[in-house]
Amino acid sequence: MSGNEIREKYLKFMEKNGHAVIPSSALVPENDPTTLFTGSGMQPLIPYLMGEKHPKGVRLADSQKCFRANDIEEVGDNRHTTFFEMLGNWSLGDYFKKEQLRWIFTYLIDEVGLDPARIYVSVFAGDESLGIPKDEEAVAMWKELFLERGFEAKDVFIGSEENGYKVGMQGGRIFYYDAAKNWWSRSGKPENMPAGEIGGPDSEIFYDFGPEHATHPIFGKQEAHPNSDSGQFLEIGNSVFIEYIKQADGSFTKLPQRNVDFGGGLERIAAAKVGSPDVFKVDLLLNVVTHIEKLSGKKYEDDLIAFRIITDHIRGAVFLIADGVLPGNTDQDYFVRRLLRRAVRFADRLSVPAGRFAELAEAVITTYSAHYPTLEDKRAIITEAIAREEEQFRKTLESGLKQFNKISLQIHVESKEVDGKRVINKEIAPVTKKAISAQNAFDLYTTYGFPIELTEEIATEKGLIVERAGFDKLMEEHKATSRAGAEQKFKGGLADSSEKVIELHTATHLMLAGLQKELGGHIHQAGSNITAERLRYDFTHGEKVERDILDRVETYVNSAIKLGGPITIEMMSKDSAQADSTIEASFWDRYPDEVKVYTMTGTDGKVYSRELCGGPHTSDMGDIKGTFKIIKEESSSAGVRRIKAILE
Ligand code: ALA
Repeated sequence: MSGNEIREKYLKFMEKNGHAVIPSSALVPENDPTTLFTGSGMQPLIPYLMGEKHPKGVRLADSQKCFRANDIEEVGDNRHTTFFEMLGNWSLGDYFKKEQLRWIFTYLIDEVGLDPARIYVSVFAGDESLGIPKDEEAVAMWKELFLERGFEAKDVFIGSEENGYKVGMQGGRIFYYDAAKNWWSRSGKPENMPAGEIGGPDSEIFYDFGPEHATHPIFGKQEAHPNSDSGQFLEIGNSVFIEYIKQADGSFTKLPQRNVDFGGGLERIAAAKVGSPDVFKVDLLLNVVTHIEKLSGKKYEDDLIAFRIITDHIRGAVFLIADGVLPGNTDQDYFVRRLLRRAVRFADRLSVPAGRFAELAEAVITTYSAHYPTLEDKRAIITEAIAREEEQFRKTLESGLKQFNKISLQIHVESKEVDGKRVINKEIAPVTKKAISAQNAFDLYTTYGFPIELTEEIATEKGLIVERAGFDKLMEEHKATSRAGAEQKFKGGLADSSEKVIELHTATHLMLAGLQKELGGHIHQAGSNITAERLRYDFTHGEKVERDILDRVETYVNSAIKLGGPITIEMMSKDSAQADSTIEASFWDRYPDEVKVYTMTGTDGKVYSRELCGGPHTSDMGDIKGTFKIIKEESSSAGVRRIKAILE
């Protein structure tokens, strides 16, 4: 059973049980400045869990794309990935524990076909200080469910994870754990939750891969227990009973409605199905792993870590780019850059030939496009962005690594603060380490494009440390200057390089060509400002442009979009571009000696626009989504008119 089938079966099963299936939200949360990425299925639904009416009703299900940036460095073991899909179902003040536990158990056993003998569950042990009781209701339900499958399920009190290693499983199947383990909120356990945050006790489901997989770093093969890092058990689902909200005084009160928030890792359920605790053995990821094997001539088992990092990072980048995040230096963009640049290093470790990342991205797109058709629509944008980032980093990687080895190291003495004074920290061995100075790390970043985390990773491999605090300070200063620069740039240009901005920018070329066709060759650009919502364009013309002319310009643009056709780039000298009358340009003196000419040719063979520009553009006119509409035409200054237009 493929990962795709497991997802479809889940959504069908929940639909059969009265749930409206909703599409995944984007990886970049809308209207939620508190977090960079959507990290769980419930995140986009918070307003509805708190009482707002959802247009689709009180029972919802989906497969939510999630990205956990904090896990980048965890990737390499058999179960961590940055991107994953979380199967989710929600009761918004409707059903509660009994229905939830029965449905999810039935799905796992009867639909996926997991062996109930390998399933173990955990429940909340209660917390007196919070006045929240132990979850006997969930225990009673689990006993009933297991009994129906022929198992007398014994409940055992464990409390903390540590205690679990001491007391062991004692033949139990249902385990009580404390709030550090069996309470869920976006910020974790109750004491970590800020006022206003919602959460509640949860009941987790674990799959037992067998004691031969127990690989806990400290406890090794000693008796594992389900809610631990044992390696033997893998959490495959979590039903959170969200009925509490934290108050400013630290107490918890009940929400106006009792909710269920179920989240199950798709790859993990699939891993249980294939009987391997390694999620990279699940077809969704294995397709990429196999492709890397072909490219590198190496076997997955030869270097598990490198294979896993490349696979995870390419997949993460594909999904982020599809949601409009292009590699860059700030916020979400920076993570795409980090993923791809880190992947380049590990690709080198496997001797994957240069320039093949686009192919790996193709493998991801092909695997997922049936459920995520946007991946198919944006295939060109995704593969090109990934190829470009790979190429760009490869240009500086080698010289950057050479530079790395040339850096003269500083002596760093480990110190700590005692009674307000810094003293040598003798507890740390060795007390003296060699360090890369903040300035050197900063130069590696600015000149060679080494994300700081990459510099730190290479440093660790060489037994060095990096002056991180100093680096962060230099970065802050650098960001302050480039922010000012960005604001200036925004005055005349693109707000960012998001999908919509690129599409609007591409449409602007067509609009200018349409204006020239209707009004004459005296029309040139006098200014341009594009955000994701609209374009604003100033052009040289002395009088009002009538609506019927604007309509014809709209038709020109829309027919080109509808027709579609490639947008090609030629590099040429500025002189020959200036001599070519078919090329449109304003502000010749703003361009370097070598210029880029973008030509948009329709599938009918006609040229719709040929213009000098710096980019970025879509790769095909047909990639512009929506209908082009001129919503306003007005005077801007003497001899200059202004148009506002949108893609609707
Ligand atoms: N929201 C819960 C989780 O992420 C289901 O585990």
